[in-house]
Parts: sequence; structure tokens; C-alpha cells
Amino acid sequence: MSEEHGIRGGLTNYGDKDFAEYLRSSFARSMGLSKDMLRKPIVGIAETGSGFNNCHRTMPELVEAVSRGVLAAGALPRPFPTTSLGEVFLNPTSMVYRNLMSMDTEEMVRAQPMDAVVLIGGCDKTVPAQLMGAASANIPAVQLVTGPMMTGRHMGERLGACTDCRRFWGKYRAGEVEREEIDLVEGRLATTAGTCAVMGTASTMACIAETLGMSLPGSAAIPAVHSDRLVAAEFSGKTAVDLIANPRLPSEIITVHSVENAFRVLMAVSGSTNAIVHLTAVAGRLGIRIPNARLNQISDETPVLVDLKPVGDGYMEDFFAAGGVGAILREIRHLLHLDTVDVTGQVLGDRLEPEMEWVDRRVIREFDKPVSDQGGLIALKGNIAPDGAIFKRAAATPALFETEGRAIVFDGLADLAKRVDDPDLDIEAGDIMVLKGAGPIAAGMPEAGYLPIPKKLARAGVKDMVRISDARMSGTAFGTIVLHISPEAGAGGPLAAVRNGDRIRLSVKDKSIDLLVSDQEIAKRLCDFAPAEGHKRGYRALYERTVLQAPDGCDFDFLTQSGKSDK
Ligand code: FES
Ligand code: MG
Repeated sequence: MSEEHGIRGGLTNYGDKDFAEYLRSSFARSMGLSKDMLRKPIVGIAETGSGFNNCHRTMPELVEAVSRGVLAAGALPRPFPTTSLGEVFLNPTSMVYRNLMSMDTEEMVRAQPMDAVVLIGGCDKTVPAQLMGAASANIPAVQLVTGPMMTGRHMGERLGACTDCRRFWGKYRAGEVEREEIDLVEGRLATTAGTCAVMGTASTMACIAETLGMSLPGSAAIPAVHSDRLVAAEFSGKTAVDLIANPRLPSEIITVHSVENAFRVLMAVSGSTNAIVHLTAVAGRLGIRIPNARLNQISDETPVLVDLKPVGDGYMEDFFAAGGVGAILREIRHLLHLDTVDVTGQVLGDRLEPEMEWVDRRVIREFDKPVSDQGGLIALKGNIAPDGAIFKRAAATPALFETEGRAIVFDGLADLAKRVDDPDLDIEAGDIMVLKGAGPIAAGMPEAGYLPIPKKLARAGVKDMVRISDARMSGTAFGTIVLHISPEAGAGGPLAAVRNGDRIRLSVKDKSIDLLVSDQEIAKRLCDFAPAEGHKRGYRALYERTVLQAPDGCDFDFLTQSGKSDK
């Protein structure tokens, strides 16, 4: 081992280096580490357990299992804490803190003496943050996810967070379910440790991490409480040690080819719209950019093969039992770049060589018998979204794909909350609901794009309407919803010019979203635009000053690009 490794790694290069090492060793001794242990290479374990993160409840046993793998392979495991982001506990939205966690991860990986790192995340923003941090720190890294929850049961029906949360809440709003039942369901939606039980953002990102090659093959879908999850943790620790002897850096694993493969898998699993933003941010850390036109090409060529909620019927436990990411990769093999390499050193083509013994075709379809012919997600463009917008066609109502309607405008989150259920609101089923002021700068881009159907329409049986915004929506949500309109209204994008009663046209066929108002009139209206006053101090001020729009992954402008910290 070279002297830059192990406990000597990253020693200050001023003053007396031998004394610095002596001091460090004596402090390490206070943790009960023998000289023998201190001679070994070190694997850091980024742990993200938190009393505010239910999805990471198994963190202690995962850390123990990773440590076991590291020790058995002859290195010294060193767990260390970083920011943890529990999706439903963060205000105003976890999205604001993804970049903070990525910076924390990058800097702690870089600053502390470790030769490789295992990053343990799971809940929506944590895996993107860790992958972004790992890409920028660019030391050998293995991503391990906490894994999805098992389903609960309610009157003979399976329930999983959080598609069924929304489904039941929708029924409750429509008066189809009583208070007693919704209370009962509350305790049956999320009943085990782990991330949401459907193909939401967390599970999509787990599949993406595996496809990129940053997680162990076969590990994305293992349920949180399954013994295989601990075996994968142990093997992740061992793999990190192997990576020290045979270095493969994140920048060699996350390449244009592996990112394109990840987009393919995103389409085939009909994953979360959020994953587009996150994968863009991860790739952006290494200077990789997949244009919207390429995204649409990938989407049009890649059928949806997985029948899971929120688009289909099953849950992540079914996906795991059906064959997981490996089964998907084999079905779309002819569309993949087979030369990518994963953390174990295996080339994708070799991984896919042996056929799987059995695949549950109820859950993972054959390529020519898909759930739907085309990928779940597309990018739209138009005068209202010059830099693009995202639409999840697989979770939308085909009858609404070609819609022209009257805009009913909500000017920010508070306005939406105040008026959406107002019985006097002038709104009909064929209207297009528009939310502005929910983009990255204006509001941190919360999952507000799933605008509730106004109560009076819901009670009249309206199940879906076209809804458009500069916000995101939960990966577990569904509906005919246009998201991530860029530039956002808060940055003076044309969305800011939409007025109540304007006509808007959505065409999924043409991949367009347009405001049927002349360019001159839009420009005139935007003359009046004045940016809102933002935060004056602290992280929120930094966020608002430097956050990029959705097509750039909502990363901070000073964090994109590759490599080491600029000096
Ligand atoms: Fe953590 Fe859904 S709340 S994954
Ligand atoms: Mg979510």
C-alpha cells in the first residue's frame, strides 16, 4: 500500500508530515484501533440513518454487514454520517437539500482518509445526492440502497406507499371512502422498513444506480427486510476493497454509454419523472449531457416492460421476485451499449450472457409483448416551455393526450391551496389547470405538479385533467400532468405570462405544449415580470442564487462539470 493510502491518506502537506501521521494514529488509537488495523486500506461507509428517515430504518444492520465485508476482505471499515433526507419530513421540499447532501457527501469523502467508499442511501433524494457526490469526489465508490418496503394488507387488498396513499386519499376527497376507513388505511400503507413499495423515485434511482454500474448487479430491487439485502451489503463492502486494488473510478463507470443505458431502463420500468432530473444532475457532474431529442428517441424505441404501480399493478416485491433489473436488461439487450463496466469489473455484455432461469412474465414482459409500446416519459417543447417540459405518458389518460383547453391559473402554492377547493372556482373538466411559481428558484421545485382535482369536480366523478406546472411530481403519482416547464415562471419563463382564460394546447403526438397567444403578446406580458425577493442569507440564499433549471438537473452552477474541486 502506498503511503497516501489508509490512515496516511490525505494528510496535510504542510508542516511535519510524520508528526501529522503520529497524531492521527494516536487519535485513531482512542477509537480502539490497533496498529495492525491502521496499516490496512480504509473503506468509508457513508451512513444516513436518521430519526427523520423511515426509509433508512435498517441503516445499522446494513452498516454492520458492509463492515463485515470490508473486514473479511482485509480493509478497515469506517462508517461516517452525512446528511439524510427523509422525503416526507422536509420542508419546503427535500429537493432543496439534495444538492446540500451531495456537497456534504463529496466533501466528507474527499476530506477524510478513505481509499474507497460505500454509500448507503435509499429515499428519493439520497441516492442521487450520493451518486453526484461520488462522481465529483471520483474515488472508488459502491452505491448500496436500503431497498423497497413490503406491501401491507387492507381488506384483502395489497397496499404500498405511496401510490395507494394517493388512490385512497383521492377516494376520500371524492366522498367514496369514510374517515374511519382512511384512518385504518393510514396504518397499513407503510408497514416495513424500506423505501416506497412501488416504482417511485427511490426504486427508479435504485434501478438506475444498478444500470449505471455503481451498485452490485442484481441488488436494486431486493426488499429492505430480505436477507439478500444484507448479503448484498456484505458484498458491497468486499467490492469496495477490491476496487482499491483494481481501481475503477466513478468517472470510468458513469459514461455516456452507461447514462444512455440508464435512460433506457428508466423508460422500460416506466420510472419516475424525477429520475430524469437526478440522472441529468449525476451525468452533469462528469460533463455528460443527454439532449431532450435523444431522450425522446430512447423513449420512443423502448417499450414499457414492467407492470408495476403507479403505471401498472405490481409492487417492488413482485419486481424482485420476477427477476429485477437483470431481467429488464436482458429484454432490451439489443438496445443497450454492452461495453459498460460495473463496480465489480464485469462488462455488461458478459453479465447478460447467461440467460435467467425464470422470469415472471406477469410482472416483467417480453420485449415484443410490452405493457405499452413506447417508453413512459417524454420531453415536450413549445412556446410555453422553450427549454422543455416532461410528461409521463404511461401514467396519463390517453383520451387527454390531444387537448386544447382554457387555462385556469394558480399563482403559486399558497394560491393553489387557497382556491382549489373553493366551490365558486370557475373550472370545468375540460380546462387545463396551470400552476406557476413552483420551479426551482421560486419554490425549490416541490412535488406540487400533481395538482389535486378540485373537490367539486372530483365529487362529480372527474378522475383526471390536464395539469401543467414548473413543479415536479412524486414518482408514485399519476395523471395527465406536464412537469418541469423550463425556464420556470420564477425565472421569467413564458409560463409567467399565462393568464386565466388563455387557451393552451397539449399534443403528446407532436410532443408539444403551447400557449395559444401571440409571441408579441407573450413578450409584452413578460415585460412586467419582476423576480420575487428571495432569501437573504444562508443555504437558501446560495440555493436560489446558483440553482440551475430542470434541463440541467437542478444542480448548482458551481458544482457541474467533472473532477476535483477547483483551486
Ligand atoms: Fe422514502 Fe418514498 S418516502 S422512498
Ligand atoms: Mg417520492
